[in-house]
Amino acid sequence: MLSPSPHPSLLLLLLLLLRLQSACGRCVFDEVQRSVRVVTPSAGSTSSKNSGMDDSQTVFTAAEQARSFHQHIRQTRGASRQCLQSQREMRQATTDMAPIRIHTWIPQESLTLSEVDRERLESAIKHTVSIVSSLLSVRRIPGPLLLSRDINKYCKFIWRNTSAANYNRCGRANGSYRDETCLDVVIPDEHLRGCAVFHHPDSDVRTELRRDGVGLDDTDFLLYLHIQNSHRCSIEPGMLAYAAHCQADTQGRPLAGTVVICREQLRQERYRHDTTVQILIHELFHVLGFSRTLFRTWRDCYQTHPAGVGCPLHGWVTNLDDTGHVRIYTQSVVRALQEHLNSTDHRLGAPLENLDADFRGLSSHWEARILLGSIMAATLGEPSTVQIDQMTLAALQDTGWYSVNRSRAQSLVWGQGEGALFGSLSTCNDSTSFYFCTGSGLGCHYHHLHKGECQSDPYLEGCRFYKPLANASECWKEENQPESVDWSGEIYQSESRCFFSNLSRENTTHRVSVAGHCYRHRCTGRHRYLIQVLDTDWLDCPPGSAIEVPGYAGVVFCPEKILCSQTDHATPLNSQDHGIFSVLGSSFADVNYSHAPHITAKPNLTFDMDLLSPEPWESAKVIVPILLALASALSLIIAVGAAYKALHGGVRVHAEAPDLLGL
Ligand SMILES: *[C@@H]1O[C@H](CO)[C@@H](O)[C@H](O)[C@H]1NC(C)=O
Ligand SMILES: *[C@@H]1O[C@H](CO)[C@@H](O)[C@H](O)[C@H]1NC(C)=O
Ligand SMILES: *[C@@H]1O[C@H](CO)[C@@H](O)[C@H](O)[C@H]1NC(C)=O
Ligand SMILES: *[C@@H]1O[C@H](CO)[C@@H](O)[C@H](O)[C@H]1NC(C)=O
Ligand SMILES: *[C@@H]1O[C@H](CO)[C@@H](O)[C@H](O)[C@H]1NC(C)=O
Ligand SMILES: *[C@@H]1O[C@H](CO)[C@@H](O)[C@H](O)[C@H]1NC(C)=O
Ligand SMILES: *[C@@H]1O[C@H](CO)[C@@H](O)[C@H](O)[C@H]1NC(C)=O
Ligand SMILES: *[C@@H]1O[C@H](CO)[C@@H](O)[C@H](O)[C@H]1NC(C)=O
Ligand SMILES: *[C@@H]1O[C@H](CO)[C@@H](O)[C@H](O)[C@H]1NC(C)=O
Ligand SMILES: *[C@@H]1O[C@H](CO)[C@@H](O)[C@H](O)[C@H]1NC(C)=O
Ligand SMILES: [Zn+2]
Repeated sequence: MLSPSPHPSLLLLLLLLLRLQSACGRCVFDEVQRSVRVVTPSAGSTSSKNSGMDDSQTVFTAAEQARSFHQHIRQTRGASRQCLQSQREMRQATTDMAPIRIHTWIPQESLTLSEVDRERLESAIKHTVSIVSSLLSVRRIPGPLLLSRDINKYCKFIWRNTSAANYNRCGRANGSYRDETCLDVVIPDEHLRGCAVFHHPDSDVRTELRRDGVGLDDTDFLLYLHIQNSHRCSIEPGMLAYAAHCQADTQGRPLAGTVVICREQLRQERYRHDTTVQILIHELFHVLGFSRTLFRTWRDCYQTHPAGVGCPLHGWVTNLDDTGHVRIYTQSVVRALQEHLNSTDHRLGAPLENLDADFRGLSSHWEARILLGSIMAATLGEPSTVQIDQMTLAALQDTGWYSVNRSRAQSLVWGQGEGALFGSLSTCNDSTSFYFCTGSGLGCHYHHLHKGECQSDPYLEGCRFYKPLANASECWKEENQPESVDWSGEIYQSESRCFFSNLSRENTTHRVSVAGHCYRHRCTGRHRYLIQVLDTDWLDCPPGSAIEVPGYAGVVFCPEKILCSQTDHATPLNSQDHGIFSVLGSSFADVNYSHAPHITAKPNLTFDMDLLSPEPWESAKVIVPILLALASALSLIIAVGAAYKALHGGVRVHAEAPDLLGL
């Protein structure tokens, strides 16, 4: 019998594999944050209001806005009664903004790392923190940072008589209270305020349960790093890190959080520094404010409180657009997106991802179809193609907690100048689109640095673009030059870019169909450039035209828009010059790295993040074993894909996800 019909159990297995593949692109931040109870200094009465458990609606009504504002007033009142210290801090905190000082702390159990793993970790963390603190400034915390204890944990009974002197203070201790945690990390007592029991509602007589710790000097945010093989690490293949914040100040600004780094990923042979830094920045931005659990505590500092402290709650951070898609409508975000898309539409909020949204439509990521390539999109591509974009920095500015140096934003290339409708499901199938493609042919990634293949991914909802090839996609890497004779005259070197062409040597009958090919280019002006094909002179290549090349049959298409424009990217000699790494510009190179503190493995390891040199990393191959395994069974894939789609309400899945590394 010659029928190729697959065995049912094989089908089932493949279905399973496909599901795993699609799962590995997921950023689990929202899930993780939901499981964390956030503690604030006013924990006495209102800590649960600030916990990760969402209870409000997406669209705030005016009444809700007023209510949350009053709730905030009550919180700060409660806090000031309970905790004179934090009130004092707030008064002092009206000083100017200064770059955020992020202190990292690694619990002892994380420190049994090999030398190589530890170096990888340290260099990735330092690089990440230096980038983030070069972007964000805060009102610095005067004196040492002390985190709060959760009164609902250490206390069995709280005085609830509002007119009592000890209102909201602890009346009886919880005998089984042990410690405070931040996403499984036990917070050391030195980092925590003390706590006491007040035996009478009106008397100052107290029993101290714990003393104040010494706190952390020169710290505005405390980042716990947990290196482990957690359950989450093992169930989400390819997951590198996840995070949550667990403490906030009275203004709602996150004060402490944990990043869990999946240990196995550090050990991988294909480990990449740039991918790790990219993911850590993404997670840190979540933890610092770009989080759906925090939208309703963002502060509006545009109205009456330019200096920041005591800005009212925003209330209207998100709303629905005409199509029912949830967008962020804060001032800087709207402006940044208008500028990016070149639109004056004042209703142009920045859209949140609908595919990982909760029941209210809230997500902690940007919509991938519209803001692809942003550091806060749900899937991150090849690091050299990802930007810390204007919309993300505007959002962090609009939290009201940070002053963001937005001149350091990297222009998002995707969708530039394309107007308010860019990326909608109804327009992405348009075959004339510059950014989207149709079908599954070979071409060029829209930055022109990579050869690509027209593909979709789970977040693009059927829209497609030229994703970098899994292997040897970079035109600018000499080592990608094929050893065998290349009929299309490709040149791989630092000045090379990807061009659509069907050139083939005249002295061969070998004919090439139009695809992405690598040729040298040289800018001669804005949107003006010359190109060079193997064994030819430099040729003028007017954008929008197709030129012929002596000695070759066929044509090269000369792209418009990106090449030799303001947002054209320099050759990424190493990834530090490119993508998110160029955010620091020259300032990063100015640093004398030999001053950097040396980090040793100590149980109470704390290191202040000064700018430090990143390690060079090996470029690594992205392995797509499942794709390879299935290469000979194409019809089977299609059958399974159809079955999968039918099962999952039309969300498209393909068997390949090389750049969907776990976030
Ligand atoms: C609340 O405290 C005040 C002052 O201590 C006292 O006069 C009042 O009776 C208390 N009310 C209740 C309901 O316990
Ligand atoms: C007392 O503390 C323990 C350990 O932290 C906790 O599990 C328990 O829920 C607390 N009990 C009360 C009544 O808060
Ligand atoms: C913002 O960044 C730019 C570019 O790196 C730098 O020149 C400028 O001084 C920074 N501004 C502030 C306020 O830090
Ligand atoms: C923005 O749009 C206006 C009007 O549609 C056009 O004149 C202008 O050239 C565009 N600017 C950019 C940078 O695309
Ligand atoms: C684009 O067109 C193809 C073929 O007609 C269709 O299968 C796909 O669903 C369309 N995608 C979108 C986003 O409309
Ligand atoms: C990528 O290319 C290299 C060199 O051409 C080859 O050895 C390797 O097997 C390729 N990997 C994949 C996944 O195609
Ligand atoms: C075709 O021409 C190129 C350049 O002149 C030469 O290198 C190559 O060997 C030729 N190939 C054949 C098959 O003649
Ligand atoms: C190259 O592509 C152009 C445009 O599609 C086509 O007109 C031409 O015939 C092709 N030439 C060869 C040699 O394939
Ligand atoms: C960097 O600092 C070290 C130690 O202070 C010093 O020896 C070295 O000359 C400095 N290098 C540069 C380039 O400033
Ligand atoms: C932390 O490390 C310092 C320096 O090694 C040491 O003096 C101190 O005792 C340590 N503290 C704790 C709590 O381990
Ligand atoms: Zn995320």
